[in-house]
Amino acid sequence: MFKIAVLVSGGGSNLQSIIDSIENGYLNCCVEYVISDKKGIYALERAEKHNIKNMALDKKELGANLSDEILKIIDGKVDLIVLAGYLSILKGELLNKFKNKIINIHPALIPSFCGAGMYGIKVHQKAIEYGVKIAGCTVHFVDEGTDTGIIILQKAVEVKDSDNAEELQQRVLVQEHIALPEAIKLISENRILIEGRKARIIN
Ligand code: GAR
Repeated sequence: MFKIAVLVSGGGSNLQSIIDSIENGYLNCCVEYVISDKKGIYALERAEKHNIKNMALDKKELGANLSDEILKIIDGKVDLIVLAGYLSILKGELLNKFKNKIINIHPALIPSFCGAGMYGIKVHQKAIEYGVKIAGCTVHFVDEGTDTGIIILQKAVEVKDSDNAEELQQRVLVQEHIALPEAIKLISENRILIEGRKARIIN
């Protein structure tokens, strides 16, 4: 069975989309761990409800050692790490050991509205301010940069003239919940071929 660890920092609706996709048979995977960088978030409750091992690491206490602590927990135990609304930056040995085995979902069409400090509602506020007509989400591999890794897939949505950031966020979120399980499925079925900066999907 293909094993994943899901890292979270918030409400965990993307985590829920993975859990639902496993329960309805779309994904043939198992969530081994849900790990957060703070206590008391709803994503941990979702894990608990589904009897998934979950733990909160304290970002402030661990500082630069946060990634090393995650590695200690999951090393040799999972095939893929999924960042599902995880807002800390991964560093060091974890990135080497899990090269092309860490994916992230970002609520914009990378390379727009991404990089340091661009997360959550801020991304949608910037998209509205800029006046883009199309927005969306991106699933990409995680490398040393912020939102710079190889793109696996993207889903687009139309931006309406009447949209505020919250309305756009909700429309993008619907696509996130499709894109993230789809990317996990492709990886778990070994259907992604990396050629330079490109991820080719094998049908
Ligand atoms: C999602 O929109 C995700 O794309 C975003 O945080 C939200 C988490 O929601 N991630 C980023 O902005 C990362 N740069 P969730 O906790 O309900 O899954």
